[in-house]
Amino acid sequence: MKFFIDTANLDQIKEAQALGVLDGVTTNPSLMAKEGISGKNNILKHYVDICSIVEGDVSAEVIATDLEGMIKEGEELVELHEQIVVKVPMIKDGLKALKYFSDKGIRTNCTLVFSLGQALLAAKAGATYVSPFIGRLDDISTDGLNLIAEIRHVYDNYAFDTQILAASVRHTMHVIDCAKLGADVMTGPLSSIEGLLKHPLTDIGLAKFLADYQKGN
Ligand code: E4P
Repeated sequence: MKFFIDTANLDQIKEAQALGVLDGVTTNPSLMAKEGISGKNNILKHYVDICSIVEGDVSAEVIATDLEGMIKEGEELVELHEQIVVKVPMIKDGLKALKYFSDKGIRTNCTLVFSLGQALLAAKAGATYVSPFIGRLDDISTDGLNLIAEIRHVYDNYAFDTQILAASVRHTMHVIDCAKLGADVMTGPLSSIEGLLKHPLTDIGLAKFLADYQKGN
């Protein structure tokens, strides 16, 4: 299972990278705005900065919502760095753009996916990743994890190559449940990854080992 961090904050990306278990980064326009990154040139530069910190895939989202605009932006984004994956929204022109990019060998991440039908379309169009937003589904009393299970089942039925990228992960249990369900990737905040480290018995056991060591020395 790949771990992506879902942020545009360079310090957090560096911290996650230093853990040694990071496989990539996802961003979106809201995450860029949160870091105060605005204006096309600054945004493009920020993607390059992120690519210089991590070794894996970095999702960069198109802003256009028409086919021609998405193609133009996507082609510009992939020229920035070999690690860039073009993030395309699940709308009609987005579907066409996914197919266009896939035919050209350009890697894509189909974003804003909330249903099995949308995930099926993304796979048919040849998306590299499909991003079901589990946290946002949970927010509206709909079981986000169930969508991961359904997509896994259908993708396995037909051996689709599209990787399931569980997005909008909010906490550590989401990560664990996504792993159990066979999501290929998860993207979440640094805290969702660091939470995996925690166990009180580890802390108690380490304290005892250190105390016993001190007694004998
Ligand atoms: C996906 O790539 C999105 O950037 C992200 O996971 C959205 O998460 P949120 O629902 O916490 O905003």
